[in-house]
Amino acid sequence: MFYRPADGHGLPHNPFNAIVTPRPIGWISSRSASGQDNLAPYSFFNAVAYVPPQVMFASTGTKPDRDPGKDSLGNIEASGEFCVNIVSYALREAMNVTSGTYPADVDEFARAGLRKAPCETIACTRVADAPAALECKLTQVVRLEGAANYLVLGEVTGVHIDNAVLRDGMIDVLAFNPLTRLGYKDYSHITEVFSMSRPDE
Ligand SMILES: Cc1cc2nc3c(=O)[nH]c(=O)nc-3n(C[C@H](O)[C@H](O)[C@H](O)COP(=O)(O)O)c2cc1C
Repeated sequence: MFYRPADGHGLPHNPFNAIVTPRPIGWISSRSASGQDNLAPYSFFNAVAYVPPQVMFASTGTKPDRDPGKDSLGNIEASGEFCVNIVSYALREAMNVTSGTYPADVDEFARAGLRKAPCETIACTRVADAPAALECKLTQVVRLEGAANYLVLGEVTGVHIDNAVLRDGMIDVLAFNPLTRLGYKDYSHITEVFSMSRPDE
């Protein structure tokens, strides 16, 4: 089949995010001006540069008590800081709880029963049991096409890695066990790994 998005896909469910898949999940923690901790998953997320290390996530749509955007975007625009926590397979249910559309004064860490840990380089809380976390300073918010689409870019200023996922100085992906987002309501995690050397290596 072929479709032009402007004309509609004609399928029971939008296939777009089942095509761009699997996606990593950035579990974004941020803090409001009043000191309220916030946590939510964003799968329009990725790393975009090595030196200095930079990441991005995209906020799409609005929520009733926050327009434009969502709590994460609003907090990050105000504070200039955020932390990207990695969701392990073991934390999948807690991640799902934090995706609910809660009022801005709800602490999703508490709602999902997650242990908190302080960040080192930013005034923000991170998920203590995440296998890794990237502390970030906001560099840019880019307004995208459409009603409420925003690209948030940040520079990584601190990196946490759970020592338990390190083997011989490298991250063991099976121990790291990141949850990935597929299309629709589907998720996956990595159970098999293979390596390839590039032609110039
Ligand atoms: C796995 C997963 C991935 C998600 N990815 C995104 C995303 O990339 N962008 C987005 O705007 N919302 C995404 N959402 C929805 C947000 O998590 C949800 O709107 C949340 O309530 C936003 O919280 P906040 O207002 O505290 O930022 C995702 C939800 C789930 C479960």
